[in-house]
Amino acid sequence: DTNAAWGGRFAEATDAFVAEFTASINFDQRLYRHDIEGSIAHATMLAEVGVLTEAERKAIVVGLESVRDDIAAGRQKWSVALEDVHMNVEAALTEKIGPVGKKLHTGRSRNDQIATDIRLYVRDAIDGLGAELTRLQQGLVGLAEQEADTIMPGFTHLQTAQPVTFGHHLLAWNEMLQRDFERLRDCRKRVNQMPLGAAALAGTTYPIDRARTAELLGFEKPTENSLDSVSDRDFAIEFTHCGALIMMHLSRMSEELVLWTSAQFDFIDLPDRFCTGSSIMPQKKNPDVPELVRGKTGRVYGHLTSLLTLMKSQPLAYNKDNQEDKEPLFDTIDTLAGSLRAFADMVPHIQAKRNVMKSAAIRGYSTATDLADYLVKKGMAFRDAHEVVGKSVAYGLDQGKDLSEMTLDELKQFSQTITEDVFEVLTLEGSVAARDHLGGTAPIQVRAAAGRARTRLAER
Ligand code: ARG
Repeated sequence: DTNAAWGGRFAEATDAFVAEFTASINFDQRLYRHDIEGSIAHATMLAEVGVLTEAERKAIVVGLESVRDDIAAGRQKWSVALEDVHMNVEAALTEKIGPVGKKLHTGRSRNDQIATDIRLYVRDAIDGLGAELTRLQQGLVGLAEQEADTIMPGFTHLQTAQPVTFGHHLLAWNEMLQRDFERLRDCRKRVNQMPLGAAALAGTTYPIDRARTAELLGFEKPTENSLDSVSDRDFAIEFTHCGALIMMHLSRMSEELVLWTSAQFDFIDLPDRFCTGSSIMPQKKNPDVPELVRGKTGRVYGHLTSLLTLMKSQPLAYNKDNQEDKEPLFDTIDTLAGSLRAFADMVPHIQAKRNVMKSAAIRGYSTATDLADYLVKKGMAFRDAHEVVGKSVAYGLDQGKDLSEMTLDELKQFSQTITEDVFEVLTLEGSVAARDHLGGTAPIQVRAAAGRARTRLAER
């Protein structure tokens, strides 16, 4: 048999493999709720403008709700012969309510229908992911407040650079996610526009009220141009791009968590419930969650490339190519949802090993810049101070001593300018406390920054 919805002009049945090859039902069935929501709004609008009678609208809406219940309860048998979610739902509706079900598709095409479905779906995904981002950020800010005074080495080139507070480091992560949230919110504006009414490509001859359908579906407004409405998937690409950036940020956090749980750093502990063991090495506790999130980043980057390539060079208007948008998009959403959930659950339970962090900061000569600044404040040019401190560090490396462990006489070998008060700047606490300005690592600034971050989160 050929397809009942479009078989009229065909002289032979669709090749069985071609039917299988061109069908999308195996992956687009997850759009059923949004598809039915769109159809209910469409039918409601058609009745309001007089294209459907009130009795027809009622039968269609009740029927669609019942189809939705059937699908939710697992009673729907999806048919590959019916190609996609749209025709499967319509066939189930007609089976339920009889010939009036066939009127639902008046003034509509699957082209504007699918464009609507995925916009509704992505809009929901943005809202769900935004809530998870908020939960993760709340966890980060809470931990940052708790660790506002915890000193750790800050790194450049992964070499110890200057001491920072762990709270400050966590708030750096929070800033990345804050921008990610704002990007999603901005993307949502372009997702939240309604293509229905574009029909196949040129619009429809029925007296439709697109503003009304948009209102019923919670869209901000109808799209402007019918050809553009059914064809472009830039909103999906933009969303995936936001997702790629979120994963990029999560992968950076993951990398640090993996490093920090290693015996070589030993800065933190992750609860056992977020880790797994080895089947051969009894001592192992592996940070699988961050490792996996780091690895999954590659998928989302791949999906972004897929979607960009899918859209490249497509002539107006709809092309079947666009059916290929769904799997990358769905996997992007699933990957983000899982990764954010795992992080939001795990982050509040990160245990800082404060003493280890602190001694690592001491070991790496992290207060060397402070000593140089001290000399500059006593009148030395910065370049000369840099040289003096460099020589002090070389001496310390040779003697196995940190700057703060040297006697005044030892330090004075390198500059007579150094006096007893030098030891105040050589402590880690003094070093971080001195960076006391907006955006600095001083504990007092970290507490203030965490407070501002909390306010932003509460205002969402
Ligand atoms: N399954 C199709 C898709 O995902 C729906 C639109 C099909 N339109 C068409 N004219 N064949 O894009």
